[in-house]
Amino acid sequence: MPVLAVNVDHVATIRQARLGKEPDPVTAAHICELAGASAIIMHLREDRRHIQDRDVALFSQSIQTRFHLEMAATKEMQEIALRYEPQMVCLVPEKRQELTTEGGLDVASRVSELQAYLAPLADKGIKASLFIDADPAQIEAAVEIGAEFIEIHTGHYSDAATEADRHKELESILTGIAKAQDLGLKVNLGHGLDYHNIFAFRDVPGIQEYSIGHSIISRAVLTGLPEAVERMVAIVDSFAD
Ligand code: PXP
Repeated sequence: MPVLAVNVDHVATIRQARLGKEPDPVTAAHICELAGASAIIMHLREDRRHIQDRDVALFSQSIQTRFHLEMAATKEMQEIALRYEPQMVCLVPEKRQELTTEGGLDVASRVSELQAYLAPLADKGIKASLFIDADPAQIEAAVEIGAEFIEIHTGHYSDAATEADRHKELESILTGIAKAQDLGLKVNLGHGLDYHNIFAFRDVPGIQEYSIGHSIISRAVLTGLPEAVERMVAIVDSFAD
């Protein structure tokens, strides 16, 4: 049965807009756990634009479910993963100027490098996932690397401008899922999935996990807004003499 992993980076993005304390992504992570999320994802970017080291440290001490750390395959991130021992690391490409992760990691050109990179993590029991496009060469390379999981990038499907493009992207993802599963990989999906486009995967067997952030946090902002405003109105009203 597939499960939901919630990415709380977007909560940290709001906090970092004021460089203050709230909203705290660690509190958000615990609320997601209480609400039934099976895992929490934080992407500690090299430029620390949203999630901070403190978030990783605090959450790794207070986790109730599973902690997936998304990260670039750098020495610094490897050390952090070894220190905090999340249940899984998901290796992603990172470009400083991008708004969000824009494409899958090119694992095919880095097979031995990534094998060596993941070895000390595997020694600590940390599972590995590779965020890749649904490209047969990347899927075969993920098998060679020995990763237990891949996360297939669904962003091109989610962002497709036309129905025809969306269909083409979906077909390619479905073919990729089947190939990866045939080769023994466990398959997660993520990026740009929302309350509508996720239905395309409803009948696809064997998906392990949906990794979703932006649509959930966006909805929370809107559905939580009435209560937040009502509370402040009540405070202001209480000032009336
Ligand atoms: N998976 C990966 C590898 C990502 O980089 C992201 C975005 O942080 C997600 C999943 C979640 O994507 P979204 O926020 O669009 O749901």
